[in-house]
Amino acid sequence: MEVVIVPDSAAGGELIAEAMANLLRRKPDALLGVATGSTPLPIYEAFAAKVRAAAVDASQARICQLDEYVGLPSGHPESYRSVVLREVVEPLGLSESSFIGPDGTADDIAAACEEYDQALVAAGGVDLQLLGIGTDGHIGFNEPCSSLASRTRIKTLTQQTRKDNARFFDSIDDVPHHVITQGIGTILEARHLVLLATGEAKADAVALAVEGPLSALVPASALQLHPHATVVVDEAAASQLKLADYFRATFAAKPEWQGI
Ligand code: GLP
Repeated sequence: MEVVIVPDSAAGGELIAEAMANLLRRKPDALLGVATGSTPLPIYEAFAAKVRAAAVDASQARICQLDEYVGLPSGHPESYRSVVLREVVEPLGLSESSFIGPDGTADDIAAACEEYDQALVAAGGVDLQLLGIGTDGHIGFNEPCSSLASRTRIKTLTQQTRKDNARFFDSIDDVPHHVITQGIGTILEARHLVLLATGEAKADAVALAVEGPLSALVPASALQLHPHATVVVDEAAASQLKLADYFRATFAAKPEWQGI
């Protein structure tokens, strides 16, 4: 696992956007897995700026979703489908046909989950999966004690995650209890995992994920199993890392051509 400590969220966004651009320069129709929440927004802004400046051609890029609420009406502005279309797909000038995600409105949720896992395989697999991290260490919506081998499935949110996400709704009562999330096993099939965490509230979760034992209690610790996982953190989110100086020195000495 590579840990990169950046001065702030804008620098993290720029670093990751450049990695996405480099991927598209090698593979123009790469499948980019995107995450929701506030943390990845600087990535999307930096990436869209590169596309506008013609520093990269994203016209053949494909986008896929990490997770989704269950039961929000189709087109609800806070469904993750709506969020990804609004924050990623549209700013890149892509159409809905370049986007895949699980159907949180399906009558048969179990079938919708299985179909989504199959759709990811049929699309050739995710080339680069962006991740955030919950304050309880979740990735996607894989809450603590999610199986490290899990596939896309329905999960129940913890009260903490519902509280954390209440800011997107009128009240916490409007935050769904149930969600669909790519499983940890599904996420680990992506070719490159890139987790961005910013702010002090994420410091404990980051330290447990990066330096703690591999444990279903901290779903993000599953990144330790992946051959190409990059964790990008700002100084605040890095504040509990014992190996912070080592991570800084390693990145400073890294040849630029290597990227992340
Ligand atoms: C939600 C999403 C996660 C995201 C997390 C953290 O639970 N399902 O994918 O990582 O929120 O969000 P934020 O970046 O806003 O802290």
